[in-house]
Amino acid sequence: MSKDLRVGIAGLGTVGGGTVRLLLENADLLAARCGRPVTLAAVAERSNNRVPGLPMDGIAWHGDAMALLDEDLDVTVELIGGAEGVSRDLVAESLRRGRHVVTANKALIAHHGAELARLAEAHGVVLAFEAAVAGGIPIVKAIREGMAGNNYSRVYGILNGTCNYILTAMRETGREFAEVLREAQDLGYAEADPGFDVDGIDTAHKLAILASVAFGCEIDFPAVHVEGIRRVSALDIGFADELGYRIKLLGVASRTEGGIEQRVHPCMVARDTPIAAVEGVFNAVVAHGDFVDTTMHVGRGAGERPTASAVVADIADIARGPRPPTFGIPSRDLARLPTRPMAEHVGAYYARLSVVDRPGVFADIAAALGAHEVSMESVLQRGRAPNEPVPLVMTLHETREASVVAALDAIGRQDSVVEPPYMIRMESF
Ligand code: HSE
Repeated sequence: MSKDLRVGIAGLGTVGGGTVRLLLENADLLAARCGRPVTLAAVAERSNNRVPGLPMDGIAWHGDAMALLDEDLDVTVELIGGAEGVSRDLVAESLRRGRHVVTANKALIAHHGAELARLAEAHGVVLAFEAAVAGGIPIVKAIREGMAGNNYSRVYGILNGTCNYILTAMRETGREFAEVLREAQDLGYAEADPGFDVDGIDTAHKLAILASVAFGCEIDFPAVHVEGIRRVSALDIGFADELGYRIKLLGVASRTEGGIEQRVHPCMVARDTPIAAVEGVFNAVVAHGDFVDTTMHVGRGAGERPTASAVVADIADIARGPRPPTFGIPSRDLARLPTRPMAEHVGAYYARLSVVDRPGVFADIAAALGAHEVSMESVLQRGRAPNEPVPLVMTLHETREASVVAALDAIGRQDSVVEPPYMIRMESF
């Protein structure tokens, strides 16, 4: 067997702990598959947290992650998180010193991936981030390698388990967002500060990475249109069900004539589509290639063991030998593709209004839609409460987003409309 691959892990949180456990529990199997042992030589963790059951004999322990740079290692595994600070410094310096890097850090890759890939290529080492997107699902490898012969037209998916759990629980129990979020926090799915998850930022990080790998372009995180799920109400979930849909937070990246469209927002997807059936904390990624057609990849998008599985797959790839370029093509050849603005998106829409229940209200709404050339498909009103607010829901035929936004803005200014209209895009995948 060849010389062992020496690995150092920075960050012994959930993913770090899982990675340590996997490296130890499946050491023999990994050595057989890699043709050489993988040795956990050093760890860095600021707190005194020990991984239960981890024998520390022979493993160097540091409080400062940067101290890993002075260890004799082949791979730095960065599991600290965050786009800036020690995680960025450790990754960049490891690459500069000619050391491979494996990371689960989606924020770091979404913000600095192109620059770090250039650094990796300049020093002839690997920067790998399978665990950054969709946890245990090997989607980066599938897009970059397993379907390498394809032109991709679209990649989309459920990329955040916390949001999918919340939306699923809202539908199953009829409860409102805030209550289900509290439950998700109690169960440990959502962070105490859940903004990254529920405001769509975590999904946007992952989508920007997927778009780069699929379309061979530089990551363009600022170009992602991002909306989260805070405004999705139990009413919307109920109306969606009545209309034959499920509501999912999707990240969608498409190649269009006008450029790359990247968007994260709640979507209505038909109840009988495969993506609608992906429930709870599960993630799913759908990729359309010109030869392979449509593929769907489903699995656990978070958690100790699934994420560790992805981290270790990258380590195993490094142990085995040559690897393709970070984003599928050499970073100097990554294109800077134009962005198609969200205003030019064309699709169907669901809009929920809260209107005072009195004669003539609907005529005013219809007039505003007509003035912006927005065509209505159906309308539903629930309840009857003369001169009180009631929910009114419309579905709108395929239209340019700018027209829908302008029409809803005008409707929102009408006296009988008592709160800003809420719109959900309806997808026909
Ligand atoms: N917080 C993410 C999720 C997992 O809920 O899916 C880590 O990316």
